[in-house]
Amino acid sequence: MLHVGARSYLPRVNWIESRAEFPILERKTYLNSCSLGALSQRALGRVAEFHEDWHNYGASAWYETWVGRMSELRGRVAAMINAEEREVALSASVSAALSVLGSAFDYSKRNRVVMSELDFPTAAYQWMVRPGVEVVRVPSDDGISIDPQRMADAIDDRTAIVLISHVFFTTGAIQKTAAIAEAARRHGAFFIIDAYQSGGQVPIDVNALGADALVTGPLKWLLGGPGLAYVFVRDEWIHNLKPTITGWFAARDQFAFDINNFAFKDDARRFELGTPALSTVHAALGGQEIIDSFGVAAIRGRNSELTEQLIARLRDAGMSIRGAANPEDRSALVMIPHDEPAAAVQRLAARRIVVDWRPGYVRVSPHFYNTPDEVDLFVDALIDGRTSSPA
Ligand SMILES: Cc1ncc(COP(=O)(O)O)c(C=O)c1O
Repeated sequence: MLHVGARSYLPRVNWIESRAEFPILERKTYLNSCSLGALSQRALGRVAEFHEDWHNYGASAWYETWVGRMSELRGRVAAMINAEEREVALSASVSAALSVLGSAFDYSKRNRVVMSELDFPTAAYQWMVRPGVEVVRVPSDDGISIDPQRMADAIDDRTAIVLISHVFFTTGAIQKTAAIAEAARRHGAFFIIDAYQSGGQVPIDVNALGADALVTGPLKWLLGGPGLAYVFVRDEWIHNLKPTITGWFAARDQFAFDINNFAFKDDARRFELGTPALSTVHAALGGQEIIDSFGVAAIRGRNSELTEQLIARLRDAGMSIRGAANPEDRSALVMIPHDEPAAAVQRLAARRIVVDWRPGYVRVSPHFYNTPDEVDLFVDALIDGRTSSPA
């Protein structure tokens, strides 16, 4: 491993060599990592290990290897976000993680949840279905990110929870959080960061972000596939939070099988529920090993080069993006306004170029394993489709 979370020294990485890990890159021009990261040989190898242990040990694989692998994954995720392993839990999805966290609050005392209008809908749904909870969606002035002061001003003594994305799925912009964290702290509110679109592409430091909790997962930039999410909860909050949605994985004496007594674990595993997707735990370990071998800071550098090349080429062709004005506030999730995005994505797919769309936009997301040539190929094909399609 070269480094985990190091900031000051970035190794020179042969990014092209890394492509051999990902079979899809031989088949497609794959530029959709913000939806689903590419499957690696390393992840396949870890899943094969899981199956082999299953053959070898049967149920005792739990104690022989699987519990240890869950712990290894929590530890690697903790190192990536500058946290301790005891502050990280595994969950089935970001939605499940937010449900458990949200269940730990008494909304009769504080009934407001402050979030932004640019966040992923699942983040609002958690609280919209809770009787008596008022969800405040802070508007965006520019449609790209949220003015931290506007968000801070919306937080008051009735606020139980503050939530914002680290990178917006709608714009790819990286949100500044310091003023929001400070306002949440001042008013005694719990500050959650949805880092699903930043984990693996933008460095995360839970202390610098001022997060009380942070959710992310392996599906996208962390190259681990579906079935799992990660939850960080700051140590000093862990003991104060007693979820009212729970399960035996949260129990201190999990293997006592005591139906009469329940006490929470002392660490973030109190936010876990039941048996996790072990296959994904292994795939996620494979993906995480690759991410850790480069370090997210180096990946960010590589992805920024590809993103800035993409944006420059689009601009040369007279096209715009919906994204942050400054390169340092942009991530590798790029939204290109388009009149017929679904048709454009289909045309590109016919040329074996895989990107995505959202209403009004073609969405492109290069990752470290993509090349400048692939970025050019995509832009050429997009322009070609634009000029050759009927007006
Ligand atoms: C920023 C963000 N948050 C949350 C989610 C939903 O996560 P889950 O399906 O694990 O609940 C997504 C899914 O794409 C997302 O992009």
